[in-house]
Amino acid sequence: MAEYSNVKLEVQDRIATLSVNRPDKLNALNEQTIRELGQAVEEIAGRDDVGGVILTGVGEKAFVAGADIAELAKMGPVDGIEVSRLGQRVFRSIELSRKPVIAAVNGFALGGGCELALACHLRVASESAKFGLPEVKLGIIPGYGGTLRLPRIVGKGRALELMLTADMIDAQEAYRIGLANKVVPLAELMDAARAMMKGILKNGPVALGLAIECATRGMEMSVDDGLALESNLFGLLASTTDMREGMTAFLEKRRAEFTGR
Ligand code: COA
Repeated sequence: MAEYSNVKLEVQDRIATLSVNRPDKLNALNEQTIRELGQAVEEIAGRDDVGGVILTGVGEKAFVAGADIAELAKMGPVDGIEVSRLGQRVFRSIELSRKPVIAAVNGFALGGGCELALACHLRVASESAKFGLPEVKLGIIPGYGGTLRLPRIVGKGRALELMLTADMIDAQEAYRIGLANKVVPLAELMDAARAMMKGILKNGPVALGLAIECATRGMEMSVDDGLALESNLFGLLASTTDMREGMTAFLEKRRAEFTGR
């Protein structure tokens, strides 16, 4: 297992909690933190004792308050491309994770922090959470996939409103527009995210991974290509032990015991 300094990885009952750990900088993502996030996601993908991931920020104030502005301030155009590509690569690995990833948004999710939450499959927010894409205030645009993911999640009109005004919205508004799946008091946030993940992990793990793949890649394709992907993966699942078990358990009126095979 790798050693991390800017993220923390804990595993309990098949649920990994991955926390961004720079609370004195409101968990701002500097290069090292993004690299460590990428390493941790790769580690989680290879660990048989992990079924799903909860991504959060250390402390009560911030999920992630954005990319590290002190680092960004020094970049030139060539570094800019590299900075953006590194974040895009890591966030894409989260989005395409076969293991479900829930963002537990415990405070500010701004800029790259909002984009990180968008790359997760589901978002549970505390009542104190604030979302926003304030990049244009700094003379830049979201560069970790936010310009593509936000319109896909909340629609182009609302996405452009957030991107062009640079305004923050609170958790209730995020819930209203479909950016947050659920809002709970801060004290209950991690329990709520864990309860949601426990419910998800009762289901067939291969099916979970392929549902994520169809929903994610399917939205990036033509309808015909997406439907072909869906039917092929549907057919693939018919060859799994898990499908036999899931259907037999239903017919035998018992709980399915999935093996992920
Ligand atoms: N990058 C680098 N450092 C950041 C940061 C970021 N994105 N966000 C916060 N910090 C640092 C602050 O510089 C400060 O560090 P210091 O104590 O060494 O001066 C520390 O975190 C605490 O932040 P502070 O601004 O004092 O807290 P606040 O409660 O007054 O304000 C915010 C909170 C979130 C409103 C404010 O920090 C902010 O606007 N952050 C930047 C948000 C942003 O534009 N993100 C997009 C970046 S692309």
